[in-house]
Amino acid sequence: MFQIKKDFSFANEHECLVVGIFDKPAKLEGIIAGVDDEFAAQLNELIKHGDIAAKKKAISIIHTFGKIAAKRIVFVGLGKQKDFSFELLREAFGATFKAIESAKYQEAAVYLDSFTNEDVDSQDAAHALSEAFALTTYRFEGYKQKSNEPEKKIEIISVYCELADEEDIRASLSVGAAYGHGTNSARTLVNLPGNMLTATDMANYAKELAAKYDFEAEVLGKEEMQKLGMGALLAVNQGSSEPPKMIVLKYQGKEEWKDVIGLVGKGITFDTGGYSLKPKDGIVGMKMDMGGAAAVLGAMEVIGELKPEQNVVAVIASTDNMISGSAMKPDDVITSMSGKTIEVLNTDAEGRLVLADAVTYAKHHGADYLVDIATLTGGVIVALGTETTGALTNNEQLFEQVLEASLEAGERIWRLPLFEDDKERVRSSKIADLNNSPGREGHAIMGGAFVGEFAEDTPWVHLDIAGTATTKKESNLGPAGATGVMVRTLALLVERFETK
Ligand code: BES
Ligand code: ZN
Ligand code: ZN
Repeated sequence: MFQIKKDFSFANEHECLVVGIFDKPAKLEGIIAGVDDEFAAQLNELIKHGDIAAKKKAISIIHTFGKIAAKRIVFVGLGKQKDFSFELLREAFGATFKAIESAKYQEAAVYLDSFTNEDVDSQDAAHALSEAFALTTYRFEGYKQKSNEPEKKIEIISVYCELADEEDIRASLSVGAAYGHGTNSARTLVNLPGNMLTATDMANYAKELAAKYDFEAEVLGKEEMQKLGMGALLAVNQGSSEPPKMIVLKYQGKEEWKDVIGLVGKGITFDTGGYSLKPKDGIVGMKMDMGGAAAVLGAMEVIGELKPEQNVVAVIASTDNMISGSAMKPDDVITSMSGKTIEVLNTDAEGRLVLADAVTYAKHHGADYLVDIATLTGGVIVALGTETTGALTNNEQLFEQVLEASLEAGERIWRLPLFEDDKERVRSSKIADLNNSPGREGHAIMGGAFVGEFAEDTPWVHLDIAGTATTKKESNLGPAGATGVMVRTLALLVERFETK
């Protein structure tokens, strides 16, 4: 796929040559000056007439009419030098591959050094390139008799780089690809319909990951859960004919099993709402209710590829939320693994129930830090929309690290408050320790607050991805459907994690 090359020349033949162009350069420099020479000093004319645009993420394709051996030049607008960043470059490369794919070119050469400045070096550019390539060209195969895949795919990308070592560029390309592929795997899990991805299927997928990357794996079935008293996950599964699974993956990157980061995912393979049944419009799309689990599994794939010196335990609670004669009902009182009893006021608030046992089980496996991730509430969509993940925390330092990782990943998160009176509301049941639905006011906060009751004093961050796990519109970095959101944030958090 990627071929790293040193010997750039305008005599090299390519279907297209991809170069970056900054806005209003004082003088034409580097490869752009070279192209200008080959074009009889007419480049400024093309820029002046708008045939080549240098504004952020603008893509202009110019035929070279044999003036150089490459058939076309794809100019990638990078905006002003001073605003240039890794995040912008990743998007710009995404726009580039989108344009190249729709033009049906199957081969491209990227002149990497033209995508650098003092803040973004060639290795950063290589990372952005391979990550964007994976993200942008992702398709969910689907089940049509005629495939969803584009007829002509980009097969070969030559990467010309004179400013950095070939080995360093190769390493950065594979890091970017790991982040991209981990995200894409999460996208596929989320895009799979509920009948194609049951809890058992998810457990089998996790076992495959474990075998590939040498993780320790444990999958609990119903009987083991009963022995451990996981009454919350079991209650959600009660109406289902599909068995529940509690899935654990352990990655040990340090000598000792200490400073363990727990990644906890909601894995509801389909959420009908249960007896608090969702309306017919609200139920469609609920195959995505395992987006948190998918993010954790995607991050574990990245971790398996990059092998950071960290300890991670991933815990996923998986089942569907169905109705039957044996299903849990509103008013039921259940006992979670922690011993805390819960009055179920709304069977559609099932995510926090399965997370309760998953968080407890992550602590049981030695998690010293917890990040739970879930498509938990419609409320977070009302609060923050569909581009921003909601967060809650009991620990400033852990939250800072999650926030920094999210900024680097280009995945927006925004914190919601968690005050004592919020906690009091989830503790307000008259007949049990907690209730799972204290009412609509601040309901994204209530979801998180409930999970926080099980984190107790362990540093914890809650991420609600109900709005961000899927998207209705395609972007520069992927098609409509599952986004794979938070895979990169979680993996970066682990890679960069510092115990404080
Ligand atoms: N899976 C849903 C949350 C959701 C809603 C995800 C829309 C994606 C899009 C969750 O289990 C749920 O139903 N939450 C309820 C909680 C309420 C009953 C307290 C909600 O948000 O309405
Ligand atoms: Zn629900
Ligand atoms: Zn749900």
